[in-house]
Amino acid sequence: NVTVSRPPLTIRLCGPRGFCAGVDRAIQIVVLALKGFGAPVYVRHEIVHNRYVVEGLEAKGAVFVEELDEIPAEHREKPVVFSAHGVPKSVPEDARARNLFYLDATCPLVSKVHKQAMRHQRLGRHVVLIGHAGHPEVIGTMGQLPEGSVSLIETIEDADRYDPVDADNLGYVTQTTLSVDDTAGVIQRLQERFPNLTAPSADSICYATTNRQEAVKQAAPGCDLFIIVGAPNSSNSKRLVEVALKAGAKRSLLVQRAEEIDWDDIGPIGTLGLSAGASAPEVIVNEIIEAFKARYDATIELAEFSIENEHFLVNRELRDIELTHE
Ligand code: F3S
Repeated sequence: NVTVSRPPLTIRLCGPRGFCAGVDRAIQIVVLALKGFGAPVYVRHEIVHNRYVVEGLEAKGAVFVEELDEIPAEHREKPVVFSAHGVPKSVPEDARARNLFYLDATCPLVSKVHKQAMRHQRLGRHVVLIGHAGHPEVIGTMGQLPEGSVSLIETIEDADRYDPVDADNLGYVTQTTLSVDDTAGVIQRLQERFPNLTAPSADSICYATTNRQEAVKQAAPGCDLFIIVGAPNSSNSKRLVEVALKAGAKRSLLVQRAEEIDWDDIGPIGTLGLSAGASAPEVIVNEIIEAFKARYDATIELAEFSIENEHFLVNRELRDIELTHE
C-alpha cells in the first residue's frame, strides 16, 4: 500500500467571477425563446463567447449562424436572436427587410455605449472608439453610425499616430470589456494630444469588467499560477490573464475546460489564483477546482472584492413565457 501524499495548495478563488448580468440575460433570452416558440431558434453569432454555453443551447435546439442569409426560407417565422455583443444597425434593418422576427440580446450596457456614440455624433463630434479591431462589439458599435464617422484606436501608439480632421470636435467611447488600466493610459494620451476630447457621460467599461479585473488584481500578488476560465475569443477573459500577470502572478493561463490543463507543465505551485471571464459558466470553475483537488491537498480561500446585484430584464416579448413556465 503506497500512500501518495498530495502537495498542499491554496486556491484563491476570486469574486466576483464568471457570468455577468448581460451574459445571463442573453442566455435566458435563447432559453425562453426555445420554450416559447419551439426549436429551432436561430442565433446570430455565438450568443456569448463560450463553447460550453453554445453547445448546451445547441443541444436544446438553438442553431447558430454568422449571418441572417443562412436562415432557411422555411424557418423565416422562427425567432432569431442577436448576440450580447451588439450588432451594427444594418442587422436589424436587414432582419426587417427579410420579415424575420428578431430578439435583440445586446447587453443593455453595450446599448448604452451605442447611445453615447450616437450622442457624440449628434452634437457634431467625430467619434473615437477605443477597442479591439474585429471584435463583434467593436463592429456593432462602429455600425451604429455611418461609415467614416468612427475612428478605432487600439493602443497608445495608435493614439500617438491619430490624425483627426477636426481635433477640437472629438468624443470617445470604449469597448465594455477592455483593461481598465491600459484604457486609462490610452485616454490620457488622447487627452494630452486633444485637450477638447469629450468623454462619454458614463464610463463605457462595464461594472462586470471592472470588478473582475479588480478582484484578480488584488488576488494576484504571490500566486505561482493564475487560471482564468474563459475562451480565447473572449475579450474580457483575455484581459484578466494580462491583469493577473501585471499584478504579480508568476504565470497566468486561459483555460476553457479542466481537460486542457497540462499537469506536467504546471510544476510545483503553492498558491493558485482562480477566476472566470464574464462568459464562463460556474460549472467549469468547479470542474477545475475538482481537478486540482484530485492532485493537491487544496484549501480554498475566497478573494471576494465586491458583491454584484445587477440583473437585466429580458425582452418584453419573452416576459410572459418566463412568468408562465418558470
Ligand atoms: Fe454587458 Fe459587461 Fe457583461 S457589457 S455582457 S455586463 S461584460
